[in-house]
Amino acid sequence: MKKIVTTLLGLALTAGTLCAQPMSAPDKAKMDRFIDKLMKRMTLEEKIGQLNLPSAGDITTGQAQSSDIGGAIQRGEVGGLFNIKGVEKIRDVQRVAVEESRLGIPLIFGMDVIHGYETTFPIPLALTATWNPEAVERAARIAAIEASASGICWTYSPMTDISRDPRWGRVAEGVGEDPFLGSAMARAMVYGYQGRDGWRYANDEIMACVKHFALYGASEAGRDYNTVDMSRQRMYNEYFPPYKAAAEAGAGSFMASFNEVEGIPATANRWLMTDVLRDEWGFEGFVVTDYTGIYEMIAHGIGDLQEVSARALQAGIDMDMVSEGFLRTLKASLEAGKVTEADIDRACRRILEAKYKLGLFDDPYRYCNPERVARDVYTPEHCAEARRTAAESFVLLKNEGSILPLKKNAKIAVVGPLASSRENMPGTWSVATDFTKPHTLLEGLRMVAGDDAEILYAKGSNICYDPELEANSTVFGRTIARDNRSDREMIDEALRLAAEADVVVAALGEPSEMSGECSSRSEIGIPDAQQALLRELVATGKPVVLVLFAGRPMTLSWEAEHVPAILNVWFGGTQAAEAIADVLYGDVNPSGKLPSTFPRNVGQIPLFYNHKNTGRPLLSDHFEKFRSNYLDVPNTPLYAFGYGLSYTTFEYGPLTLSSDRMTADGSIEASVEVTNTGDRAGAEVVQLYIRDLVGSTTRPVQELKGFEKVQLEPGETKRISFRIDNELLKFYNHDLEFVSEPGEFDVMVGGSSDRVQHATFTLAE
Ligand code: BGC
Repeated sequence: MKKIVTTLLGLALTAGTLCAQPMSAPDKAKMDRFIDKLMKRMTLEEKIGQLNLPSAGDITTGQAQSSDIGGAIQRGEVGGLFNIKGVEKIRDVQRVAVEESRLGIPLIFGMDVIHGYETTFPIPLALTATWNPEAVERAARIAAIEASASGICWTYSPMTDISRDPRWGRVAEGVGEDPFLGSAMARAMVYGYQGRDGWRYANDEIMACVKHFALYGASEAGRDYNTVDMSRQRMYNEYFPPYKAAAEAGAGSFMASFNEVEGIPATANRWLMTDVLRDEWGFEGFVVTDYTGIYEMIAHGIGDLQEVSARALQAGIDMDMVSEGFLRTLKASLEAGKVTEADIDRACRRILEAKYKLGLFDDPYRYCNPERVARDVYTPEHCAEARRTAAESFVLLKNEGSILPLKKNAKIAVVGPLASSRENMPGTWSVATDFTKPHTLLEGLRMVAGDDAEILYAKGSNICYDPELEANSTVFGRTIARDNRSDREMIDEALRLAAEADVVVAALGEPSEMSGECSSRSEIGIPDAQQALLRELVATGKPVVLVLFAGRPMTLSWEAEHVPAILNVWFGGTQAAEAIADVLYGDVNPSGKLPSTFPRNVGQIPLFYNHKNTGRPLLSDHFEKFRSNYLDVPNTPLYAFGYGLSYTTFEYGPLTLSSDRMTADGSIEASVEVTNTGDRAGAEVVQLYIRDLVGSTTRPVQELKGFEKVQLEPGETKRISFRIDNELLKFYNHDLEFVSEPGEFDVMVGGSSDRVQHATFTLAE
């Protein structure tokens, strides 16, 4: 029986099945017969053509792109296209495939629908900060509804790369540092895009593509595309779980990552693509490379285009994004005995299966629906949901003296280069966004505060002193106009307004392309020119609220000490401005919690809550000096994983366990009462952590194993219980067996990873 868990917006999301239903035997037999028959009619060239995925747009740049895509489609040399926007255009291209190629095989149309289509939701890191998988599923569902109306049936999302290195710009696109939270978000996104009820896609669902498999978030020094090297134990315990969760949720496709894994680029890594993904996890969909992933293996140094293409195919890659390595070389490789016809057939079959499941053979235009575009894209309901979700993603880092929420009749000086930019609001990878639609923060504040509010504005500074860095850090081709006044003049103007105002709202931080692909940074603080402005604003003694735009955890040591209130708003999507105003004015009480640790400085990186203890932990009684520490900075973060404040306060009662002993076939309950002790309603994320105190291998000091977001009225108390069973205690041991080990466990519950209560139990032999 399915259970309707929410009908917000009239979008019924169904639960009750753990993962998407596999195909029944008769359905599979029917599909197989159809594809067998089709493949018998296909020439070798046409089969290879199905494996070829050129880019249709100019969203990113690359090499080896065919200039005559129309001709290639007519010749049957193209399996799909990506990043074209516009239902009419897509319909037109599909018509060429269906009516002008010999066999009329429809194309699959992909796009980076990463955090929404035209209704753009917060960046994925911010979605993760909601700690609300239902909201994330709804966001993905809305993205699917809008994209599928507009000709898109395949999205390159979710990105489930765990990362503990905020220098890496792509942390913005991922699910944070934790495998348990990341897995919950990965599942939610797959369900949202594809639905939960089976292999057959409805015409308002789209196929997910889980990326970037694997370990892309662990690039050395946080530099994009850089080398990755780690133990298999770490892979299985810490980095693989979200990919696996997405596969188990039924994701239809995977994307290979750019990086190497154990010395072999992921794109040619048979262990990864076949042994792990298919044989161990049972994944049955198709795998696409990342953009020019095959071509790049020449630079990785493992062969020429023919060699690397053959290796990719044999590893288990089915579709070649942009490199044209398969298209140009597989025939020669077949003749040279480097690949077999069976290798080509296998990949071709997987792509045809995806098209079959998407219903493209029944109706190649089923995702091209101009009436639905008019009816279903960027609707008021979708925008309202985006606004709610954005507000839920913000994390209140500091609120000294309860400066927030602001009064609607307060005179406010809004200052900062990010306060009045429309295009900067949605965040990186807003591929389908109409950038004329978002409001600026200034407009959002004025809308929410009402006509009588006195809201002044000064830009105060440019993004940073270096114009080149500034140009590289703003939305492709849409820079925030650089102000030609001197830095002094700009700051002075801001100070004059601050002097007149009751409170200063400083909208500062990263512009949207300072995070995202190829946006690694070695310093991750607020950029220099804005820092200087902030310091002078704070020095006036006026209360300052820092509204921090960020695509990554940032270093904020000075700010945490000197700025009285900090609201981290990430990049909130098309409705970010309204949502920020909702929270600043207290119409919405913030409830986001950090999905990643905020370090004190760059030198602490990688810093993450679920680390190992070492033999000389800082809190050890045995070593007075020679402990695992720094001379110049504490080991602790500035803001811990799971941290986030509210305008109300929550009090935790004592943590109790239903028993201090558990057997492998039993379970126990950890419970705690949580009370809203303030005077406004609010939501708290209650977090369960476990530590395996003694193991056959070393175990992390803390691992998230459960969480629940609970809504509480003032004075209300709720009892939150977590069920702990043997499955929850399992980990991959040295032999990569997934086991639990008898012994003592520490259970921790609290509102942040660093604010927990403890209790212990024993898992019996
Ligand atoms: C990115 C992918 C993206 C692809 C297609 C690549 O540069 O790494 O995440 O899906 O481009 O646009």
